[in-house]
Amino acid sequence: MPSLEEFDDLLQVIWDSKWITNNGSFHKRLEDALCEYLNVPYISLFTNGTLPLLTALQALRITGEVITTPYSFVATTHSIWWNDCRPVFVDIDPKTGNLDPDRIEAAITPKTTAIMPVHVYGTPCDIKRIQEIADKYGLKVIYDAAHAFGVEVNGESIMNAGDLSTLSFHATKVFNTIEGGAMVMHDAETKKRIDYLKNFGFENEVEVVGPGINGKMDEIRSAYGLLNLKKVDNAIEARHQVAVRYRKALRDVEGITFFDDMPGVRHNYSYFPIFVDAEKYGMTRDELYYKMKESGVYGRRYFYPLISSFSTYRGLPSATKENLRNAHRMADSVICLPMHHKLEEADIDLVIKCISNK
Ligand SMILES: Cc1ncc(COP(=O)(O)O)c(C=O)c1O
Repeated sequence: MPSLEEFDDLLQVIWDSKWITNNGSFHKRLEDALCEYLNVPYISLFTNGTLPLLTALQALRITGEVITTPYSFVATTHSIWWNDCRPVFVDIDPKTGNLDPDRIEAAITPKTTAIMPVHVYGTPCDIKRIQEIADKYGLKVIYDAAHAFGVEVNGESIMNAGDLSTLSFHATKVFNTIEGGAMVMHDAETKKRIDYLKNFGFENEVEVVGPGINGKMDEIRSAYGLLNLKKVDNAIEARHQVAVRYRKALRDVEGITFFDDMPGVRHNYSYFPIFVDAEKYGMTRDELYYKMKESGVYGRRYFYPLISSFSTYRGLPSATKENLRNAHRMADSVICLPMHHKLEEADIDLVIKCISNK
């Protein structure tokens, strides 16, 4: 959270102006600041990270089947369903947790119109391979980049990949506006269209040019975001140090694995997932999860269950266990450890002790 004094000052400005929502000055300032920070040409703020997903599919007029990952937060698949499209689950690459490009082509049918991958935990997808496949079959690519704020590959923002990318600024994210989100696009025309769509489709006072929705971010949360943006680099560096501590302490614990940094990638350390091999570790993932809880360490089994296991989606032909073996293995072994830039030494030690003292 930003400092209360600083936030108070901005609230005073908002109170004086009496402009509290609908494209006010803090909204504009935050969009400009985010374009600069993320190194992207155009951005449109939203009230959360789910609405830009819904709106992206609308804006690109996606129909039929959309290839996606079951290893994500459920909003990814919900956005496909809400657009009256059919999600087609494809298995993940166990080395990254992301949609496996080697398996995408086999899932493409004449009805496929788009691919919706997720940069899970902020780990970049194989954007080059995915784009090659999309180009070959004439498919759109919408990245759910909810976890990937500030992530770069070889100095290039991951947000510039695909046709559109969406972000979440929920309170649990590296950069938060309490609730909030955004969409990144490549050109001014698309930004205009998205800005209309997030405002009910209004082009002006009397014209509605599309089936829009209310996805607008207000002035108060825009101001809050401007203050938080000043702190995000320090937060990412502090999280990096927590990851360094976890890795050093857990590298030699038999049966526990985790991801290392990728060469050429600026990570944001939004999550620190570990994977438990019950046989080697001598305890199942759930046993460790509950043991940690008893000691006051609240890990998250994130993403468990898989989206394809929820009753809403488990009847889909692509939701079978045989089709999604890697995703099941990961969902059944994962615990995301506590991760925050304000995590104290004693807390980090407690987490490590819980895992290394069986
Ligand atoms: C991968 C992913 N996509 C979408 C969302 C939805 O974002 P929001 O909660 O801001 O609506 C989340 C939220 O946590 C997420 O983790």
